[in-house]
Amino acid sequence: ENVPVEMHKVRIVQKLNLLPIEERLKAMEGAGFNTFLLQNRDVFMDMLTDSGTNAMSDQQLAAMMVADDAYAGSESFNRLAEAIEEVFNKKLFLPVHQGRAAEHIISQVFVQKDGVVPMNFHFTTTKAHIEYAGGTVLEVFNDDALEIKSKKPFKGNIDIDKLKAAIRQHGKENIPYIRLEAGTNLIGGQPFSIENMREVRKVADENGLMIVLDVSLVGENVYFIKMREPEFKDKSVKEILHTMCDLADILYLSSRKFGCARGGGIATNNRELFLKMRDLIPLFEGFLTYGGMSVREIEAMAVGLREGLDWDMIKHSPEFIRYLVDSLDAQGIPVITPAGGLGCHLDATGFLPHLNSLDYPAGALGAALYIVSGARGMERGTISMDRDANGNDVPSEVELLRLAFPRRVFTLSQVKYVEDRIKWLWENRNLVGGLRFVEEPKVLRFFLGRLEAT
Ligand code: F0G
Repeated sequence: ENVPVEMHKVRIVQKLNLLPIEERLKAMEGAGFNTFLLQNRDVFMDMLTDSGTNAMSDQQLAAMMVADDAYAGSESFNRLAEAIEEVFNKKLFLPVHQGRAAEHIISQVFVQKDGVVPMNFHFTTTKAHIEYAGGTVLEVFNDDALEIKSKKPFKGNIDIDKLKAAIRQHGKENIPYIRLEAGTNLIGGQPFSIENMREVRKVADENGLMIVLDVSLVGENVYFIKMREPEFKDKSVKEILHTMCDLADILYLSSRKFGCARGGGIATNNRELFLKMRDLIPLFEGFLTYGGMSVREIEAMAVGLREGLDWDMIKHSPEFIRYLVDSLDAQGIPVITPAGGLGCHLDATGFLPHLNSLDYPAGALGAALYIVSGARGMERGTISMDRDANGNDVPSEVELLRLAFPRRVFTLSQVKYVEDRIKWLWENRNLVGGLRFVEEPKVLRFFLGRLEAT
């Protein structure tokens, strides 16, 4: 058996509660069948997200104690800027309070009205910010990227022919930039290859376009490049990261994925691009040397980023995810393969074939799994798509229940517990019915919407 091993020990712990099933049912009803609206005290394994819920290291906690409090010119900020340069090879850095704040700044500066942004796949907040700026998102992934059961090593790749066709169709003057997301979140934490990114760079150069790279989930993408792309088999994490980041004009991140509770940033080596964005930081985020973060968070981020260069650190999460994905797959339970980063993604369409997309199968599966296990995941399907201009539901291309693996948080026995409960639910899947909205926000409805069983 291919058992992954924790290359860390647990020295600070938090007690968990496992409520009786009747109380879990009540809690789910009280939360409007939306796992975002559960109270964490009612949750046994919080697999909602890996954002701001990762384990912190002793080194991060120690660094937080020596932070330099200053509105302007803090030494903590200088340490962070140095870490950004070491890790991503970018010299100019703008701090923001989290990833979507970076998306806000980038979209406001570069996305013109009716601008089209080609990308491998959207993330919810990315799409919302591009649309808020008056633009649209155009996904140019390979046709097989959405296949649930697959052996494709790089489902996060951009389809180069589709990218070229999009540029011809919309005109390069209407394309503010090409966006690449490392560890493509919404299609199952799937990576792109350096080979693909080099081709994207070539097309970008031919057309005078820039590449904006979202590195929020880059650690796992680097893991898969080392494991699956022969050229990089013997390269260090840092060498792979620099090769990747050197191909991008601007990169941005949510540091909530790097063992921090808050934070993010935008980095570039291009002074002109930097200056275009710089003045919006004090307007929306805070002064240039804190950007909405506390100095303690800035110190934790600097250490967290450097720890991301450690192979033992970045391999942990993908190996634990692979363990669960491969076990479920071997039992015939529909799950995205090959295993990606970020989490295990159950395919709700295959899990609940008696429901259609307007029954919100991924939401229904999430509610059901909480009731049978106390573990909460996140709906990544039609509920996560907002309605179109005519008020119609937009069926998602994939109906996924994402079970995120916050980095270094769960033990293997906890993972086995979830596996056992998923298996029970699979055997009893006919018990699960659909959902409908009773309260529905217009934007990002998945966060606060309330539903009921149909
Ligand atoms: N980009 C990616 C790839 C993300 O996964 C996220 C957040 C963001 C940007 C936005 O960052 O939350 O700091 O504002 N993903 C979280 C998740 C919310 O649960 O997947 P943020």
